Amino acid sequence: MDYEVFKARVRDLIQLDLGSYKQQQMQRRILQWIARHDLKDFAGLFNMLKTDTNHRGEFIDYLTINTSHFFRDQSVFEYLTAIILPSIAGSQTRIWSAGCSIGAEPYSIAILLLENKFKIKEIIATDIDEDSLKKAEAGVYYSNQIVQLPPSLLERYFTIVNERYHIKDVVKRQVRFYKHNLLTDPYEKGFDLILCRNVFIYFTSEIQSRLIKQFVDSLKPNGYFVVGSAELIINPNLFGLERVSYCIYQKRKSDKGVL
Ligand SMILES: C[S@@+](CC[C@H](N)C(=O)[O-])C[C@H]1O[C@@H](n2cnc3c(N)ncnc32)[C@H](O)[C@@H]1O
Repeated sequence: MDYEVFKARVRDLIQLDLGSYKQQQMQRRILQWIARHDLKDFAGLFNMLKTDTNHRGEFIDYLTINTSHFFRDQSVFEYLTAIILPSIAGSQTRIWSAGCSIGAEPYSIAILLLENKFKIKEIIATDIDEDSLKKAEAGVYYSNQIVQLPPSLLERYFTIVNERYHIKDVVKRQVRFYKHNLLTDPYEKGFDLILCRNVFIYFTSEIQSRLIKQFVDSLKPNGYFVVGSAELIINPNLFGLERVSYCIYQKRKSDKGVL
C-alpha cells in the first residue's frame, strides 16, 4: 500500500484528511510511528488502525501534536488584557479557541476575564482530538503545563492534589468544549475574538488560506483573530485583516476588503 492509498483509507476510517497537512512532516511522523510499533509498512499500520481502537486514538493524538500550556506566549495575553478584552467585553461577546488541545488556552482567557471582572456571553473551545477534549474537560494539569502562571493566579484558580493542578469549577464553567474538525465541519459565526494558535503550522499553505477565510467570515466586524507566533499571515489585507500587534489581527471595519 503506498502513501496515497493509505491517506485515502485513513480518511474513510477515521475522517482525518492527512492530505491537508504538510506532507513531509506528516510522512516523517507516520514512519516514526511505524518503526516504533514494529510494523512493516503502511498496510501494517492501516491494519492496526482498523482492528485496534486504542491505537487508533493514540495515533490521532500523536499526529495532531497537542502540546499546550497556560499563558503560552505571554505577550499575547498581555495584549488581550490591556486592549482586546476591555474593548470587546459585553453580554453578547463570544470567544472561540479553535484547536484548544487540553484546554490551557481557553482556561487562560477565562482566568483573565475573572481576574478583570469582564463579563462575556461565552467561550467555546474546540478540537478534533477527543482525548485532548476529555483532558480539557477534566482540567487536571502537570507542573510543566502551568509554569507560566503567576503564583497568585495559581493559588486562586487551582487546587493541588497529589502534585496535579486541578482547575476550579469557577473557571471550568466559563468554557464549553466540543469536538470540531476545522477542515470539514461548518464554522459558527458571530465571534468577537478567535484564537487559532499553533494549529495552522501543520497545514499546507492552500489549506491555511481557506481556513483563514473561514475564520474571518466567522468574526463580527472589528473582531480579532490571533495566530501562533510562528504562523504570521503574510498578506493580511487579502483576507480583510489588519495586523494590530505581534500575531494579532483585526477584521477591517468595513467589509469592502474582505474576499
Ligand atoms: C499544538 S496544539 C495547540 C494548542 C493551543 N492552541 C496552543 O497554542 O497552545 C494543536 C491542536 O490542533 C488540533 N488540530 C489538529 N488538526 C485539527 C483539525 N483538523 N481540526 C481541529 N483541531 C485540529 C490538535 O488536535 C491539537 O490539539
